[in-house]
Amino acid sequence: MNVPLLDLVAQYRTIKDEVLPAITGVIEAQQFIMGPAVAQLEAALARLGNARHGIGCASGTDALLLPLKVLALRPGDEVITPAFTFFASGGAVHNAGGTPVFVDIEPDTLNVDPAAVEAAVTPRTRALLPVHLFGQMANMERLLGTAAKQGIPVVEDACQAIGARRRIAGAWRMAGELGWVGAYSFFPSKNLGGWGDGGMIVTSDDATAERLRKLRLHGGAKQYHHDEVGTNSRLDTLQAAVLLAKLPHLGAWSAKRREHAAYYTQALEGLSPVRPPAVAAGNEHIFHQYTLRVERRDALQAHLKAKGIGHAVYYPVPLHRQPCFASLGYREGSLPISERAAREVISLPIYPELTRAQLEAVAGAIREFYR
Ligand SMILES: Cc1ncc(COP(=O)(O)O)c(C=O)c1O
Repeated sequence: MNVPLLDLVAQYRTIKDEVLPAITGVIEAQQFIMGPAVAQLEAALARLGNARHGIGCASGTDALLLPLKVLALRPGDEVITPAFTFFASGGAVHNAGGTPVFVDIEPDTLNVDPAAVEAAVTPRTRALLPVHLFGQMANMERLLGTAAKQGIPVVEDACQAIGARRRIAGAWRMAGELGWVGAYSFFPSKNLGGWGDGGMIVTSDDATAERLRKLRLHGGAKQYHHDEVGTNSRLDTLQAAVLLAKLPHLGAWSAKRREHAAYYTQALEGLSPVRPPAVAAGNEHIFHQYTLRVERRDALQAHLKAKGIGHAVYYPVPLHRQPCFASLGYREGSLPISERAAREVISLPIYPELTRAQLEAVAGAIREFYR
């Protein structure tokens, strides 16, 4: 049986009748730039993220870059972020004029290690940029403690974790809620994916929200009047309309992903070369990815490929070992947990529309390989 890693067509079939009229509405109104759907989505995601403001922008990458621009980083200013993440987390720091300081991760959750963050703080540290990797929140309570001690802001990379929650001191807190700002991505493969690029920043800081609204419009609140130099980073009205139509499904989709994850974890139980993803106590994971750590990964990949089972390695090279960051001087072995994760991880199909037969085919192929 063929099981693709991701099947957006399967989702499209279930929501076509809701999304296509929303798109037609935008086309009929011809309001492609900052049409009403943008503000509606901003309000809806601010509510979801327990924040006062949502600021739409062109991508998740820009949702990281624009707040970092607000910090006006100078050469040598440091922002601490995990080495094991998607490239944008480190790239945004560089593009905002700062230096990414890469730290290691926890071996079980693969999220940033708060002790490593604490140890990496220097007088040049201007912000922390934790990532809620694969859909579960990092240890925000410890990270917020470190940030508060230093008097620096936290930029939450919640691009993979929209709707994820963590129970802290008896209360559920949303991904994106606890930092100075939180960044979401609407890349099509995300739990809430657009039909193109898109992103959003959430924040409860009124002054920051105002700055961000300007920065995404060339630095001006009034057309052709520029207080500062910003850029063009708007969320497209068509994307906002698609996302508004999809948003009511997000909770059910993430619940389905959790259900599939539970199936895999149970079906792979007892296979010693396979370590299923760990969910930290207090976390409600949204399983943007279901990522195993395995032995003999290359051979497993070849086996899955031969069986028609989709899979991917997120991420094969940690950021501190990327050629573009070679000048930062990190050697092989400097962040060993990230390096080991990069050698061992493999992600399986986890999209909500997977059938039981498909789930069984994926787990069966893995069991067969390690038999
Ligand atoms: C952890 C993380 N940060 C940032 C991004 C950047 O988002 P985008 O692709 O929308 O620019 C992504 C998504 O691809 C991501 O997974």
